[in-house]
Amino acid sequence: MAKRKMILDLDTGIDDSLAIAYALGAPDVDLIGIMSSYGNVYVEDGAVNALKILELLGHTDIPVYVGESHSSTSDHFDRMQVSANIHGENGIGQVELPDPSRPVEKGSAIDFLIDSVHKYGKDLTLVPTGPMTNLAAALKKAPEIATEIGNMTFMGGALTLPGNVTFVAEANINQDAEAADAVLTSPMHSTMVGLDVTLRTLLTRKETQQWRDLGTVAGEKFADIVDYYIDAYRQFNDNLGGCALHDPLAVGVALDPSFVQTLDLNMRVKYGKEDYGRTIGDENRLNEPTNVKVAVQVDKDRYLKVFMDYLTTLFKNNK
Ligand code: BDR
Ligand code: CA
Repeated sequence: MAKRKMILDLDTGIDDSLAIAYALGAPDVDLIGIMSSYGNVYVEDGAVNALKILELLGHTDIPVYVGESHSSTSDHFDRMQVSANIHGENGIGQVELPDPSRPVEKGSAIDFLIDSVHKYGKDLTLVPTGPMTNLAAALKKAPEIATEIGNMTFMGGALTLPGNVTFVAEANINQDAEAADAVLTSPMHSTMVGLDVTLRTLLTRKETQQWRDLGTVAGEKFADIVDYYIDAYRQFNDNLGGCALHDPLAVGVALDPSFVQTLDLNMRVKYGKEDYGRTIGDENRLNEPTNVKVAVQVDKDRYLKVFMDYLTTLFKNNK
């Protein structure tokens, strides 16, 4: 089977960890690197978490690059208390994992992305599941990557639902609305996997118990990490009945777009005081060819089946 080259751009994070696991579990993915972003955690902690999760899953061969540490319009980043509440102080549900046996890469994350697009072109899939700051910086430095890249599928935004940080803003977009706007209004084609679909795709303790029952270290650690997230969701969104699979759904959709139904739109991101972080159709490009597919419906049962298949097999093999 021909494997797809993939780069993940993550603020690792519990559901970002699930995105790593999904990519490693998918038989048709060659994960060539991870870029770290700020958001759920500080950028350095996100990179270390990514290394720890990779190692837990038997990989010390995938490079992890440290990306931008704050938004494109600020000079620092303060982690929100709600991030620690949902993902744990350490970002991975307060679960202790061994210190990684290797360091992060010395090179620039932005250059890694640009070089990879130049090298692999249409064979490359990028899945950002944190703020768009790294991608916007890469586009600014090398605008040609917008049309060279094969697939960009991101977790972020909300079109048909309210946001989860403010009434209009989803968390990833809210971190850097200007960067997200620069990406969505560039010539790059993308698929938006926002709250419209991720809040319908839920995991419960029934599934994490299946991982625990495997009796492997990976199964047990992931069950602990995700149970923390499920408990946090119960506390903050008690009507959902599980935790949302935001970031691994974006990886799933990148690989199999038929999991979702989409609307073809030109999108923009507002960054005024009243509507900061709102993802909405671009009234200035009403009659132009569209470049964003916005997911509005999801086949959650089929997705969950594939998700459990990939992750359970992966955890079974990592004793
Ligand atoms: C998104 O925000 C982050 O907290 C999650 O990891 C996910 O990427 C959901 O709004
Ligand atoms: Ca994330």
